[in-house]
Amino acid sequence: MAETNFENVLYEVEAGAAWITVNRPDKLNALNRRTVEEIVAAVRRATDDDGVGSIVLTGSGAKAFVAGADIGEMAELSAEQGQEFARFLQVSLDAIEGARKPVIAAINGFALGGGCELAMACHVRIASDNAKFGQPEVNLGLIPGAGGTQRLPRIVGRGRALDLVLSGDIIDAQEALRIGLANRVVPADDLRAAAADYAKRLSGKSRVAQSRALEAVLHGADLSQSDAMHLESSLFGLCFATEDMREGTSAFLAKRKPEFPGR
Ligand code: CAA
Repeated sequence: MAETNFENVLYEVEAGAAWITVNRPDKLNALNRRTVEEIVAAVRRATDDDGVGSIVLTGSGAKAFVAGADIGEMAELSAEQGQEFARFLQVSLDAIEGARKPVIAAINGFALGGGCELAMACHVRIASDNAKFGQPEVNLGLIPGAGGTQRLPRIVGRGRALDLVLSGDIIDAQEALRIGLANRVVPADDLRAAAADYAKRLSGKSRVAQSRALEAVLHGADLSQSDAMHLESSLFGLCFATEDMREGTSAFLAKRKPEFPGR
C-alpha cells in the first residue's frame, strides 16, 4: 500500500483503488479551503496514476463523511468573498466530477451541506446505514453554494430537491436510498469492504469505456438531447479505435474472460 499524506486529507492506494479520506474528524471533516484544494489535488494524483482504476472518497472517524463547508471560515465573509468562495467550491467539485476515472463516495456519517454536495459530485454513492444527508443551509441564512441547487434536482428530481433545500431537513440513509440520492446502503461496519469490493468490480472492466461513459453521461447532461446523442455516437465510435473494444468483443466471441489493456 502506497500512502502519501496531505495536511487534511489522507491518500492511500490499495488494490488499484485510491482512497482519499477527508481528515478533520474534530470538525466533522468540514471543508475549509485548504481541505478542498487537497481533495482536488488528491483526485488529480489518482487520475494521473496508471496503477489506479477508481477513486474512493470518504471521511475520517465514525461520525461524519463531511458535515459541510467550514462555517467558521465562512462566517465573516463579505458578499463578494461569499460569491468567490462558492465559485471556488463549484469549480473544485466540478473537477472531481470531471475525473476520468470512477469516483465512489463511501459515506460514513453526516453528509450535510457542502458534504452532501461533495458526495453528489462523486459518480456513485455508497452509504453506511447510519449516514445522514441534507442541505441545512437555510438554518444559517444561506443556500447551497457548492452546486447543490443544481446537482440535487438532477439526481432526485426538482420536487424532492426543493423539499430538502427549503426545509433543511436531514434524512437518513434509507430515505436517501429511496429517493436515489444513495446508490446503496450497507451496515456501517461493512462500508469500507463494500466500497473496496465495488472498486474492485469496476477495475475488471474497460477503463477506456468507463472514461467515455463518464464523459457521455456527465457532459451530455449539459447539452440538448440531440447534441448529447451526437456526443454519445462520437464517443461510441471512438471506442472502436481502442484495444479494449477489440479485446472485449473477441473475448465474448471466444467465450473467455476479457483482459482489458486499458487502451
Ligand atoms: N463547519 C465548521 N465546524 C463544524 C461543522 C461545519 N460545517 N460541522 C461541525 N463542526 C464542528 C463543530 O463546531 C464542533 O466543533 P467544536 O468541538 O470545536 O465545537 C465539532 O465539529 C463537532 O460538532 P458538534 O459538536 O456540533 O457535533 P454534534 O454531534 O452535536 O452535531 C451536526 C453534529 C448535527 C452535524 C452539527 O455539527 C451540525 O449541525 N453541523 C453543521 C452542519 C451544517 O450546517 N452544514 C452546512 C454548512 S454550510 C455549507 O455547507 C454551505 C455550502 O453549501 C457550501
